[in-house]
Amino acid sequence: MQKSISGFSKLSKAEKINWLIANHFGNKKHAKTVLESYWNEDKKLQQLHDEFIENTISNFYMPFGVAPNFLINEKLYSLPMTIEESSVVAAASNAAKFWLNRGGFKTNVISTEKIGHVHFMFKGEKNALVNCFNALKPKLLRATATLTKNMEKRGGGILDFQLNDCTSKIPHYYQLEVTFETVDAMGANFINSCLEQIAVTFETLSKEASNLNGILPEVVMSILSNYVPNCVVRAEVSCAVDDLTLEGHFTGSEFAKKFIQAVRIAEVEPFRAVTHNKGIMNGVDALVIATGNDFRAVEAGVHAYAAKSGQYTSLSHATLKNNIFRFWLDLPLALGTVGGLTALHPMVKFALELLGKPSAKDLMQIVAVAGLAQNFAALRSLTTTGIQKGHMKMHLLNILNQLQVNTSEKEQLIIHFKTKSVSQHAVAEALKNLRA
Ligand code: MEV
Repeated sequence: MQKSISGFSKLSKAEKINWLIANHFGNKKHAKTVLESYWNEDKKLQQLHDEFIENTISNFYMPFGVAPNFLINEKLYSLPMTIEESSVVAAASNAAKFWLNRGGFKTNVISTEKIGHVHFMFKGEKNALVNCFNALKPKLLRATATLTKNMEKRGGGILDFQLNDCTSKIPHYYQLEVTFETVDAMGANFINSCLEQIAVTFETLSKEASNLNGILPEVVMSILSNYVPNCVVRAEVSCAVDDLTLEGHFTGSEFAKKFIQAVRIAEVEPFRAVTHNKGIMNGVDALVIATGNDFRAVEAGVHAYAAKSGQYTSLSHATLKNNIFRFWLDLPLALGTVGGLTALHPMVKFALELLGKPSAKDLMQIVAVAGLAQNFAALRSLTTTGIQKGHMKMHLLNILNQLQVNTSEKEQLIIHFKTKSVSQHAVAEALKNLRA
């Protein structure tokens, strides 16, 4: 039976650990050792991580890998990838190598606007509200002046401000919709601060507004939207169809035909589209995490974008025209290269330096390429050899570690499985034979 506790956050780290272990673990010594084995010896570094969130008791490692040879708009990059899935970095590296000799990846940023709302209820006449909003608009904008000053210096700020009538969705429901440019910041704190200031000022000033006849707007909440259909980047690859030939498997046009069929299936079949897009997000999330960005915001926004027509569909598309194969995707990506963890987390700083200290627009392009590369690699495997061969080869080390093999057994089994198919059962059998 779990015990509840009040004031947990006020306990010291040692007290929190003692309470948790006393109440949840059989082997108390082992549980404590596990937590402590992930503490950083460098006390200052550990404190930095402790202070990222509340109630930190240890660190949680994820592998930080690198996929080299990405040619993006004629410039070479090595991509930092933080991910636990065995085959993702290898797949990205293969796709990068493949396109390196076929012109590389081309990208362009289509738009960079973000949106936030003050959601409110108003039970009076719509016309009165419209007049009141028009009269108050300059004052509401002025109320954000101290917040927007620095952002304006960097080339950003508030771009647009409008009143939306949403009463057809919920009676009396309106929005103040604000459009922002946040330049190199992801902008969540900036946007939310501006919105909260606008909301407070709106409530205060509307009390004095004679045209509302004393019927006051009631603010429900003020928050940015993680749906960013106007913050979009395109990444693409193209080549002559003959350059797609996979020796020993398919001619270029056979491969292109199968590949395009696979994309088409994801365009029309939501069950497939979700998995197809998950493959894209393997690349996207790995870079988003490595660069200290908010992967939950990116995930939510990308999947909403994939459903913008009313049916969830593929984020990528492919064509074959005049013997040219073209494969591309558009992704809504709200990313930052300043603010948040970017100047704090040493590995995030390392990742950004590895990428040549990109602007947010540069990072949008690099991340979209990672998504496209991952999708290409997945579809290439799926339509040729199947994914399990490569996937299980990469997973072999995980299985061996799980079976607690020693170094010599590991070496021998890796050699053994060079020519055999990997499965949990096959590896366990091979280990049994080896030990016998
Ligand atoms: C696995 O993590 C991702 C794939 O399932 C993506 C896909 O099916 O396109 C291989």
